[in-house]
Amino acid sequence: MSFQLTGQLTGQLTNFPKKVKIVEVGARDGLQNEPNILDVKTKVELINRLAQAGLQHIEAGAFVSPKKIPQMADSSEVFAGIDRIKNVTYTGLVPNLMGFEAALAAKADEVAIFAAASETFSKRNINCTIDESFERFAPVMHAAKQAKIPVRGYLSCVLGCPYEGKISVQKVAVLSKKLWDIGCHEISLGDTIGVGVVSETYALIDAVRRSVPVEKIAVHFHDTYGQALANIIVALQMGVTVVDSSVAGLGGCPYAVGASGNVATEDVVYGLNKMGIQTGINLDWLVSVGQWISKICKRPNSSKAGVAIASKQLKKD
Ligand code: HMG
Ligand code: MG
Repeated sequence: MSFQLTGQLTGQLTNFPKKVKIVEVGARDGLQNEPNILDVKTKVELINRLAQAGLQHIEAGAFVSPKKIPQMADSSEVFAGIDRIKNVTYTGLVPNLMGFEAALAAKADEVAIFAAASETFSKRNINCTIDESFERFAPVMHAAKQAKIPVRGYLSCVLGCPYEGKISVQKVAVLSKKLWDIGCHEISLGDTIGVGVVSETYALIDAVRRSVPVEKIAVHFHDTYGQALANIIVALQMGVTVVDSSVAGLGGCPYAVGASGNVATEDVVYGLNKMGIQTGINLDWLVSVGQWISKICKRPNSSKAGVAIASKQLKKD
């Protein structure tokens, strides 16, 4: 197999960043797929607790069609209820100008647009072709520039599509560059159905970093096949420093049946903290948020580190 990890096997792991930016997507990607729709008060409390645990980048909701995603219908009220903490960026997901206007009115600090590397997924998720999605993004980019709101760009299905199967990395690289060229300040590569493995992640980042600066690439792994942490380690060794994750591994994707939630933030932070890589996050606090929200969502906590740390804490009490 023709892939190569950077660094020599000298008895030391090399090439890890000193600092990693964690983008917490549990309140959006997580809750959008929970069967129990939480009330505004609980969503606000989740976001506030995450910020108190040290998360500085929180995707707090989505301004999308409430018919498509009823779980996000109250995002404006959620944004209005958050205790804004200085230095925390609260992001809103937007598919079009209507969504952008709602996000702007809700005082989102950043918006995130989302395209797909699969035509079928694009059609199912946002009811348009990939080309049409970029036509919809043009007025969003224009309005965001006027309002001085930074725009993040997601690309879904980068390592596989629930309808089309394998997706070529060249296609992903071209579309990532397109998101970069229209003005997205960060490109988040979504393994929407969590199928990718280490060698594929290597090939993916290697292709995308040729056209997008590697420090502007984020990785967004759903953990369906348990490969997310391994993939993140490879991405970090290749120069990526931005990781999306979800507290307690909440969520999935409504248009990718069977897909698990994102990699759990607790699991990522446990590993990074122990490796001496700065995240700015208090793991014990984060674990308590994960336990709390799992209970509220009436689901098991999908974070292994979260469960392990919480059970130790219980023994101490
Ligand atoms: P459409 O039906 O083609 O849009 O949907 P339309 O313009 O024809 O409008 C249809 C209706 O939606 C109208 O209402 C509009 O007003 C309304 P009606 O007249 O029928 O009452 N509408 C809106 N309402 C609220 N906010 C808006 C908005 N726009 C139109 N912004 C559309 C197109 C994109 C709107 C729709 O398909 C949609 O909202 N899709 C969102 C799907 C979604 O949120 N998916 C999950 C997020 S993506 C994801 O999870 C992947 C990611 O995590 C990365 C990864 O893991 O890969 C990011
Ligand atoms: Mg996702």
